[in-house]
Amino acid sequence: MKRFEILLLAIMMSVITMGQNKNAPVNYDENKVPSFEIADPLRCLDGQVVESTRQWESRRRPELLRMFGEMEYGVTPRKTGIKVRHEVVNSTPDAMDGLATCKQVRFTFTGKNGKSLQALLLLYIPNAPKGRVPVIVSYNFHGNQTTTIEPDVITSPSRELVKSLGSKAWVRGEQSSRWAYEMALQRGYAVATMCYHDICPDAPNLLVHGIPALLPDYNAENRGESEWGTIGIWAWGYSRIADYLEKEERVDKHRMAVLGHSRLGKTALWAGAQDKRFKVVISNNSGCGGAALSKRFFGENVSRITANFPHWFCPAFNHFSENESALPFDQHELLSLIAPRHAYVASAEADKWADPRGEYLSLYYAGPVYHLYGMQGLPSPVPPAVHQPQHYDVGYHIRSGGHDVTPYDWQCYLDFMDAALRLNE
Ligand code: GCU
Repeated sequence: MKRFEILLLAIMMSVITMGQNKNAPVNYDENKVPSFEIADPLRCLDGQVVESTRQWESRRRPELLRMFGEMEYGVTPRKTGIKVRHEVVNSTPDAMDGLATCKQVRFTFTGKNGKSLQALLLLYIPNAPKGRVPVIVSYNFHGNQTTTIEPDVITSPSRELVKSLGSKAWVRGEQSSRWAYEMALQRGYAVATMCYHDICPDAPNLLVHGIPALLPDYNAENRGESEWGTIGIWAWGYSRIADYLEKEERVDKHRMAVLGHSRLGKTALWAGAQDKRFKVVISNNSGCGGAALSKRFFGENVSRITANFPHWFCPAFNHFSENESALPFDQHELLSLIAPRHAYVASAEADKWADPRGEYLSLYYAGPVYHLYGMQGLPSPVPPAVHQPQHYDVGYHIRSGGHDVTPYDWQCYLDFMDAALRLNE
């Protein structure tokens, strides 16, 4: 047996009585955070501590990627056999009062079994700068048409599977407060968005209507321990968007950022950990299973998240319900996989469910890997006050208010990206 299999088996045997529980207790008291040791991300499973970036990349990084795949998000298949076709269905050179060119691109995914699926990308490219521009890639929750009131934006295809067509969730512009397109475009960034339901509808019984339908060996009803959940599938989708953008003539493929909110922040981190084309990886209020340290057991916990959203992770993650201390890794090691690219974590003061302090500490404890590359992580284990962004080679801010994406968040991300991507050189 391989080392991981033995580890997983040992964990499963030790937690036979634990389980996912929608009513599992939730801790909001800092005094009740259990004492636990923060694993050194540089220490390999066999105890060796890596001392060079070469060792990190050849040994420890692959080891961590395997653990996150096998025990949390599911293993990303090396080859899916899925072919992707792109078709520009609409191109407007003077969208947003001439600020941008708007392209809408239909992706058709076809599996080896002949089944296919369509998704729609909405891409805004600023008109003022000449040449190639950096791009921010970010899924939306309710369809491209909800991110703006622009009338030409085509409604994303897969929504009716999730909620009835009449639902006000799908109304044009309904989520526009979360999309600071004009600010980004004015500052020289392109923005690409797609509805995450197009890649895989977000409900346990709907996986068969997403990318899994194109994989003949995927058994959505009875997944293997380490088989893909939707976070893994959405992360794969982020990489397919990057494939398209790499070929887009106005986009600078060396300056791609991925940004996600909440469950899509978890997804952005897993995508950014795996796909090195994302040079900046931004987690907005991603919480449990995202930036927040699981072992703090503060706010949402593994028992709650796996009970409420069983399809997000691979089944093996369930074994850590009410048993976070058995995890052979923690989320700071997910963040460390982004180095030497730039990780950014943002919290909201009232979003205790996402454990703002745990999100901050996670980025802080990814520091040793940044240091290995001669880069600067967060200098202090003490989180800053609200509205005091900390921008080093990694970035963090906490703002007032609750679980959301606001213009203030975008402003911080753009400030950070200007420096990280050296936009003004
Ligand atoms: C729920 C869930 C969180 C998730 C959030 C979201 O609150 O418990 O883990 O981040 O939904 O995606 O909005």
